[in-house]
Amino acid sequence: MEGKTVYSAVQPTGSLTIGNYVGAIRNWVELQSGYNCFFAIADLHAITVRQDPAELRRRTVELAALYLACGIDPAQCALYVQSHVPAHAELAWVLNTVTYVGEASRMTQFKDKSAKHADNINMGLMDYPVLMAADILLYRTDLVPVGADQKQHVELARDLALRFNNRYGETFTVPEPLIGRNTAKISSLQDPSKKMSKSDENPNASVFLSDDRDAILRKFKRAVTDSDNCVRASSEKPGITNLLNIYCAFAGVTLEEAERTFDGKGYGEFKLAVGETVADRLAPVQAEQRRILADKAYLSETLAAGAERASRAAGRTLGKVFRKVGFYRGE
Ligand code: TYM
Repeated sequence: MEGKTVYSAVQPTGSLTIGNYVGAIRNWVELQSGYNCFFAIADLHAITVRQDPAELRRRTVELAALYLACGIDPAQCALYVQSHVPAHAELAWVLNTVTYVGEASRMTQFKDKSAKHADNINMGLMDYPVLMAADILLYRTDLVPVGADQKQHVELARDLALRFNNRYGETFTVPEPLIGRNTAKISSLQDPSKKMSKSDENPNASVFLSDDRDAILRKFKRAVTDSDNCVRASSEKPGITNLLNIYCAFAGVTLEEAERTFDGKGYGEFKLAVGETVADRLAPVQAEQRRILADKAYLSETLAAGAERASRAAGRTLGKVFRKVGFYRGE
């Protein structure tokens, strides 16, 4: 474990959901004391779909405050904004030259986003996973804690690392995805076959980290369940299984413990308990985020220090890459 590097990021788009929290950020907090960690706010990725500039700026700062409120400790890891470290875009350019158009165009998220934003299928959208590979490979990352939807992108990063190493000699570490067992894919509360998403049109489908207690209780009360009124996880009961996974993640209990707690109890009582557990856990995070957001000087100092630390590590890898591909660096 000693000396291993962890990298992950979230885009500052939309409001973060409890899926982003239990699928990603919460797991980072557990990793930071044992690994060399880099946690970024992926603003370069965000502009691959249209963003309102003022809103993007506001969400970037809010996300930084949220990372801190969730327990990311800037003394233990590099917390920074992706665009503050130009090496990300520079390495992405080099990696573009070892990425085939065919493999980029086959990425599931590219196909989904192209369908969703048919009026804006830009080059950045297709290049998104290459930039993500650059993020990961710049820090010689061993582990990438993400939700299941990002697994294919981490696999591309592995492929590109191996291909580059083959062509130019040993340069990159080949990263592994780190995906939680029950929290890898938190589903929509309205359609458990879909992932809970920041951008779902149905406001009852996603629980946002910014939701107040009433909204959280209401959304869980309306969550789609299955017919038999028995609180047990099974592949035939995706709605209840999803709620159980959420409950376990927020209450810190195992599936068996949760099933025992709700044995003989009905869905109404269970859904209320899930809502209350989530609301109780989020309230202090929300209060802490508000407190941190009020201290803009602390935030910008923290992000500047994080970017400096990330730049140093990234610069070492980028220098090596530039030498390997044959860029003239002076005598
Ligand atoms: P983003 O912002 O879409 O998602 C951030 C993280 O949240 C996870 N996630 C979920 N996990 C469980 N259930 C859900 N319903 C759910 N929805 C989202 C995502 O898997 C992700 O871990 N491309 C990345 C951002 C990124 C990145 C990177 C990640 C940019 N560069 C380098 C790792 C390494 C993304 O999807 O962000």
